[in-house]
Amino acid sequence: MLNIVIKSQGLKKIYRLPAGDLAALNGVDVEIKQGEFVAIMGPSGSGKTTLLDLLGCLDEITSGSLEIMGKEVSEARENKLVLIRRKNIGFIFQEFFLIPTLTALENVELPLLFDKLPENRSRAIELLERVGLAARINHLPKKLSGGEQQRVAIARALMTSPKILLADEPTGNLDSKNSKLIFNLLRELNKEENLTMVVVTHNMELGNLADRIIFLQDGKIIPKEESSLYH
Ligand SMILES: Nc1ncnc2c1ncn2[C@@H]1O[C@H](COP(=O)(O)OP(=O)(O)OP(=O)(O)O)[C@@H](O)[C@H]1O
Ligand SMILES: [Mg+2]
Repeated sequence: MLNIVIKSQGLKKIYRLPAGDLAALNGVDVEIKQGEFVAIMGPSGSGKTTLLDLLGCLDEITSGSLEIMGKEVSEARENKLVLIRRKNIGFIFQEFFLIPTLTALENVELPLLFDKLPENRSRAIELLERVGLAARINHLPKKLSGGEQQRVAIARALMTSPKILLADEPTGNLDSKNSKLIFNLLRELNKEENLTMVVVTHNMELGNLADRIIFLQDGKIIPKEESSLYH
């Protein structure tokens, strides 16, 4: 049987606003198996980023349960969440969040910089080679194209050997050719490393490359046929 690496039940995130409560997520059940490649799609404001942030232990849960790698995390507060996150999860975002004054190699080394182990440098170089940037390791981000910058961000996210990679619109700033290249790279990494991947995208063509798509609307999972993306 395949392992379940992410499991939520009745997951809720309520923002308390002066104008009243806003249910950004209103009872979400997901089960994601090890090595699955899952896309999350839905209209703007449907709760995609909120869901990804909760699954990635980036934010506290209002109610419901969430297990990451078999451990219940819904009661965990920020300091505990940091540890769970660091051990298991890598992130990439629409904005690449590279440090502009550091080279590609230094950006990739960053997550393990304080460990100061000599093998960290060779691992960073290996990862940059893996994402196709062997010839660019000493370039500053501004000398790289958007697609290349996202490759650096992917290599950086893999530096800590996460079991789960979460991506929030990783191709949102890229043209269609680079979007396809990045998505294919994520798919390859998913297959080669049995890396579980959860990717938010607005692009149906890319969503269709995933093993399955979770459709969100108004903070809830809905069946594909009911998604406004199809109408
Ligand atoms: N920190 C916050 N404080 C208050 N409301 C928030 C906060 N973050 C998100 N929201 C609200 O929660 C709802 C879901 O937002 P979320 O960012 O998860 O949507 P999304 O599906 O990622 O949208 P998009 O496609 O535009 O990125 C929206 O109504 C949003 O305004
Ligand atoms: Mg979003």
